[in-house]
Amino acid sequence: MLEEIEELCERALTEIGSAPDSEALEGMRVRYLGRKSRLREIMSQIGSLPTAQRPALGQASGTAQKAIQQALERRQVALQEAAEVSSAIDVTLPGRRPLAGNLHPLMRLTEELVAIFQGMGFSIAEGPEIEDEYHNFDALNTPADHPARDLHDTFYLTDGRLLRTHTSTVQIRVMETNPPPVRIVSLGRCYRKDSVDATHHFAFHQIEGLYVDKKVSFADLKGTIEVMGRQLLGERTRVRFRPHFFPFTEPSVEYDFSCSICGGSNSACRVCKGTGWIEIAGAGMVDPAVFEAVGYDSERHTGFAFGMGIERVAMIRHGIDDIRLFLENDLRFMRQF
Ligand code: PHE
Repeated sequence: MLEEIEELCERALTEIGSAPDSEALEGMRVRYLGRKSRLREIMSQIGSLPTAQRPALGQASGTAQKAIQQALERRQVALQEAAEVSSAIDVTLPGRRPLAGNLHPLMRLTEELVAIFQGMGFSIAEGPEIEDEYHNFDALNTPADHPARDLHDTFYLTDGRLLRTHTSTVQIRVMETNPPPVRIVSLGRCYRKDSVDATHHFAFHQIEGLYVDKKVSFADLKGTIEVMGRQLLGERTRVRFRPHFFPFTEPSVEYDFSCSICGGSNSACRVCKGTGWIEIAGAGMVDPAVFEAVGYDSERHTGFAFGMGIERVAMIRHGIDDIRLFLENDLRFMRQF
């Protein structure tokens, strides 16, 4: 009888282990553990056997019963899990596209500008957005009565500090702490009290370049701007310089790029309005007064500086006609880039 129990248990375990579904499993439970099962029969007979045989048989049948019970439970769980997985995955459905973010158009352009200037040997400098009047105006040779200082143009904090109105502040900070030669670009957010419309915003981004060394000339400035223009808007881009005034550069210029959209051939061009030129920003040779403010010897060193609005370039590049779109974070706009 002992042998029979062992055989029976072994057979039950193999069969249960490969039961194809819960229905078959239930059949096996009845067959192996049910009231009419062989195991039950054996167990009911134990009482009438000679005393010496009882303990061994009792133990063997108890163990078998438990083993079969556990095998049934394990198989039940396995079948259930398999059923859940197969009902959750419909292999005929099209795949779900993973949600991938993309960079903000200004961020993309910023990275591109950084790469262009790094390629010309400039390194990246940063400065604070909350500035003092000294770095934003005084050190940049901006007289106390200059209109840019006006409450109408500048956001002043209650402690007398201000939100920087341009990234030229970073030139001063870099020159204060580094002796020449200096070759940096700084990028970042600036603030002006402009009323918001399609081409003005109170928060915008600038990139500023500064190159100071012995014998830096206006030709170097022109070459640098030209390389940037070609890399940004295409090989055929030309640059035009017009006389201008900035307190911190002398001489000062504004520079334009030839229109990359119509090349000047379309009088209805939205980007250049038919003039063939797009106004980009300001530049010039660093004013000796600025060198004095940071302790550079203006007899030994010369330098150029230039700045431009990043939104402006992005608008020209993509034909965007409203600067507000950059700050609204409307996904329908952003997904286009
Ligand atoms: N800081 C000037 C502006 O915001 C731009 C500029 C930078 C001009 C450097 C000359 C040299 O308009």
